[in-house]
Amino acid sequence: MIKVADVAYARFAAPDFDRMESFLVDFGLTRQHRDEKSLYMRGTGRDHHLHITHLADEPGFIGMAFNAQSMADLETLSAADGASAVEEIDEPGGGYRVRMTDPDGFQVETIFGQATLDPLPLDELIGADHGPGRPRGRKVQRARNIACPVMRLGHVVLNVPDCGVMDEFYRRHFGFLQSDIAFAPGGDDELALTFLRCDKGKEYVDQHTLLFTRSKEPGLAHVAFEVEDVNALFVGHEYLHSKGYEHSWGVGRHTPAANIFDYWFDNYGNRVEHFFGGDLLNEDDATITHDSIGEILESQWGAPMSERRASLETDYDPLRG
Ligand SMILES: [Fe+2]
Repeated sequence: MIKVADVAYARFAAPDFDRMESFLVDFGLTRQHRDEKSLYMRGTGRDHHLHITHLADEPGFIGMAFNAQSMADLETLSAADGASAVEEIDEPGGGYRVRMTDPDGFQVETIFGQATLDPLPLDELIGADHGPGRPRGRKVQRARNIACPVMRLGHVVLNVPDCGVMDEFYRRHFGFLQSDIAFAPGGDDELALTFLRCDKGKEYVDQHTLLFTRSKEPGLAHVAFEVEDVNALFVGHEYLHSKGYEHSWGVGRHTPAANIFDYWFDNYGNRVEHFFGGDLLNEDDATITHDSIGEILESQWGAPMSERRASLETDYDPLRG
């Protein structure tokens, strides 16, 4: 078993790059590379890309990549059942990877040695004035209708028929730790929600890098991109709204993880999230088991319950669960 450091990027398929890219630019990503077969979009951070689209007749979600902590970890992982050999990545950014397919058929790459980029500047007009420091003397701000820059990919959420199988697979191969879990209604011991975080020892990490929600069919629930602050998130919300995109859920604040969220649909119906903040945990934090799914789905504040169910697409009614 190895311990991955973070999620790196997500892969999608789509028949029309212009249609995909136009949304992603408005969502706050920047084109890093595009050719006849693939489109690579970056954030403002050092990662070479966060979002890949491959040309295909049918749109869809393909899978995701995790950052390994060393080349030695790739060698270790390549010995696992069903894993590829360590192979050079023949794509922009380069590096090395091990490919696997998880129990629900999603492609999982574990990568190391990918090129990094100089960070992109954040728009100074997006900066907020939070906290008691009152840092904005004579820095008058006037909101503009602009995209909210995305900094990084934060987490991937998958709808899965059997949370227990997926939970076991990802913990066994990649060292994920359970942060928050809930079992199915009715008192059986079948996992219905499981939040997994990376294990970086004493270093603090996001409360979840992966989340599985039990559902009838496997599929993408959403991928989530972190933004600079709350003001940036609302600027992005207004901008996407002004462009006429389909909104899914938010703005609100989750209970587990406590990140502030805003969910949208891209031009192919994939749900994508802007988020800011969230709980950071390390190896010392115990798993929290919740009595009900409803307890987890309850927001600290924000959108009404009726929209939550639609956004999460589980087969549970959170009002009952
Ligand atoms: Fe999320």
